[in-house]
Amino acid sequence: MVRRLWSDGVLLAVLIACVWWPLATGGAPGGASKARVDLRSPKYLHYKQEYRRNLLSNGLGVTPPMGWNSWNHFACAVNETIIRETADAMVSTGLSKLGYEYVNIDDCWAEIARDYNGNLVAKNTTFPSGIKALADYVHGKGLKLGIYSDAGYFTCSKTMPGSLRREEQDAKTFASWGIDYLKYDNCNNDGTKPTVRYPIMTRALMKAGRPIFFSLCEWGDLHPALWGAKLGNSWRTTNDISDTWDSIMSRADLNEPYAELARPGGWNDPDMLEIGNGGMMKHEYVVHFSIWAISKAPLLLGCDIRNLDKDTAEIISNKEVIAVNQDSLGIQAKKVRSEGDQEVWAGPLTGYRVAVLLVNRGTYRYTVIAHWDDIGLPLDTVVEARDIWEHKTLKNTFVRNITATVDAHSCKMYILKPVS
Ligand SMILES: *[C@@H]1O[C@H](CO)[C@@H](O)[C@H](O)[C@H]1NC(C)=O
Ligand SMILES: *[C@@H]1O[C@H](CO)[C@@H](O)[C@H](O)[C@H]1NC(C)=O
Ligand SMILES: *[C@@H]1O[C@H](CO)[C@@H](O)[C@H](O)[C@H]1NC(C)=O
Repeated sequence: MVRRLWSDGVLLAVLIACVWWPLATGGAPGGASKARVDLRSPKYLHYKQEYRRNLLSNGLGVTPPMGWNSWNHFACAVNETIIRETADAMVSTGLSKLGYEYVNIDDCWAEIARDYNGNLVAKNTTFPSGIKALADYVHGKGLKLGIYSDAGYFTCSKTMPGSLRREEQDAKTFASWGIDYLKYDNCNNDGTKPTVRYPIMTRALMKAGRPIFFSLCEWGDLHPALWGAKLGNSWRTTNDISDTWDSIMSRADLNEPYAELARPGGWNDPDMLEIGNGGMMKHEYVVHFSIWAISKAPLLLGCDIRNLDKDTAEIISNKEVIAVNQDSLGIQAKKVRSEGDQEVWAGPLTGYRVAVLLVNRGTYRYTVIAHWDDIGLPLDTVVEARDIWEHKTLKNTFVRNITATVDAHSCKMYILKPVS
């Protein structure tokens, strides 16, 4: 008995070393380690699964995060007044009740110089009350505060320092301020791979002791979907989005091939939402929100929610579309068929339901058809279809396919539910 315990202990230590060592020494996670035990043996399955989990084990991001970020609308013009008023608006508009909870400050919030102890300092002209006071304010509204740093010497704006070589110190600072979310960018680094620099912040956050949602933002350079779940709660799969149809559709396409790798606790991130920023038509923003929702992407609003227009409020407040994003199965939809400009996106939901999105990317009206064998339903399954933009359950039931006429740059989104 004693001997068995001893040998299990040694095996566990070897396993930990095999998984931990490449991370601790900055090697690619899961890379060159030569395990001396057969990890496929059922005996070790338990340990294997234990260590395959998110290294952070922070319990966050069980469903995709929802909230707001300052960058898409304010860029470097962000300040504490805007953050406070945004937190106020999150509650007064009813968005917080729908699940939007993070209020995230992006780049440009700090002084270029650290203090004499090497700590980051909030910019005295734009954040005169400091970040701790802001976190208290945001928490007082029942919301969470996010912040931004960079795995380099300076952030992308070059107006403030990054956290490279200061990871532990900065993680402690963020935790002491009450920060709940960290977006970690990739500018002005030392030329080493993200798989070298990002794990250092992951461990720093673990040590800092406060659960902080960790958003990896290395722009998809090194296929972070392949290693991001060990290190963080979401990973950007693309370069920055902009407020145009081509930008949102190309980000959607770049994000889609990684669908299998998204899961509760770790999500593909095709960047933040542009809905409400004025560059697109309402029906295009509807497509934007629909694809992000069905793709289990973070729903981080990027407009000025203090001044919501009616169309924007309607789109981002669609409870049924939000429910697709937040469904507890956590399975990212895929583009299951595309013919020219007509696309079918589909993914399973809890309760044997399927979310289906018919997209017309073209400039003419088209008929788009979703076949059961494309969306994963047995051919003879009879379903009821709910149109979740019209908020109507269709009168007829459907078998074998569902078809709709879809306007240019528009979509139809359904939840199909088998009827007995
Ligand atoms: C803000 O900080 C800068 C140095 O980073 C300093 O020169 C300036 O006096 C400070 N301003 C105020 C209002 O404290
Ligand atoms: C923040 O920006 C707004 C609009 O640009 C301005 O009215 C406000 O005074 C600024 N607040 C601070 C603290 O800089
Ligand atoms: C769609 O399904 C119906 C039966 O529900 C069938 O009659 C029709 O031929 C199908 N359309 C296509 C294009 O497969």
